[in-house]
Amino acid sequence: MKKYSKQIIMALILIISPILNSCQKEELKPAEVEKISWGKTGDGNNVDLYTLKNNKGSVMQVTNYGAIIVSLTMPDRNNKFEDIVLGNDSLYKYLRESPYFGAIVGRYGNRIGNGKFKIDDVPYQLTINNGENHLHGGLNGFDKVVWQAEPVKVENGSALKLSYHSYDGEEGYPGNLDITVFYTLSNENELIIEYSGKTDKKTIFNPTHHSYFNLTGKESSILDHELIINADQFTPVDSGLITTGELVNVENTAFDFRTAKAIGKDITNDEEQLKFGLGYDHNWVLNNYDGTLKLAVTLYEKNSGRVMEVLTTEPGLQFYSGNFLDGSITGKNNVVYNYRSGLCLEAQHYPDSPNKENFPSVILKPGDTYSQKTVYRFSAK
Ligand code: GLA
Repeated sequence: MKKYSKQIIMALILIISPILNSCQKEELKPAEVEKISWGKTGDGNNVDLYTLKNNKGSVMQVTNYGAIIVSLTMPDRNNKFEDIVLGNDSLYKYLRESPYFGAIVGRYGNRIGNGKFKIDDVPYQLTINNGENHLHGGLNGFDKVVWQAEPVKVENGSALKLSYHSYDGEEGYPGNLDITVFYTLSNENELIIEYSGKTDKKTIFNPTHHSYFNLTGKESSILDHELIINADQFTPVDSGLITTGELVNVENTAFDFRTAKAIGKDITNDEEQLKFGLGYDHNWVLNNYDGTLKLAVTLYEKNSGRVMEVLTTEPGLQFYSGNFLDGSITGKNNVVYNYRSGLCLEAQHYPDSPNKENFPSVILKPGDTYSQKTVYRFSAK
């Protein structure tokens, strides 16, 4: 009997061990990206919706229309997952109206005065789509085009590669430009965005990402979120929101977020810059810029405990407090997006840099490769 039981145990080990091994391998295997068809644009291009998941249970949906992040769930301090970005639940709604919800914005994030600039004394005229100015790449910027998308395997989570070819003269920009964006949802609950770009003619290039965050995961104002921006200076604007070229100290202004402050605390102060922006809609000059990845922002929401840190290789950070949201847009699950119910933290070069010699250059030359890395890192406390 003893002899047999030894044999049975040996047999069982032989049967079970490959199963155990395969389970281990399964865990190490990079997460699969699911893809479904999401409709067509007005000119008949097919659009898809991709779902990325990490091993913490977070989920991110991305469409190749505008390279838009449609939803992103993150845990609160009780490990409750909620969607913390604003957006729409159908392609139709994005096509109808979207204030750049979740999109990659380009070629130039933010404004260029009168849409004019020069490279080597050659003048260029961009499309005008914001008063007298050019905003976020023009009438048909990167947020309104269909990108090529391809899931990629990464060891630390789930990733999607998106590429777009912008032709010479598109929206008035010189040079054929190829942009690639990798979105990674990492197993450390980070949204990692890596951009690269190449041109065949000198051009200007300043892409950014335009997610509207609300860390409560609910429809509510963002005014109670506490914000830190690692910047001693910001770039003031004129009444058309074009940078004046000055770098002004944040000290003794509503723009001082060097230590944690509720967004609503000073937003109604009697300061001209707040009137021009209808609140915060400005670029901060990030401290110690040297092109390496540095912590730029910490955002905290006390009810959920959610924290979002933003790290970037860029010199500037546009903080927009959702001042143009006015309840006219109904988003996911028929939620009405009210005034200041989402905020954007857009890593970028300073607005109107092509016309400001003292700002870091945004010129991309043939043979050079543009690169940017920005990380939105989530946790809860
Ligand atoms: C940016 C701009 C704002 C506004 C929003 C979109 O943040 O700076 O002025 O255009 O995008 O509504």
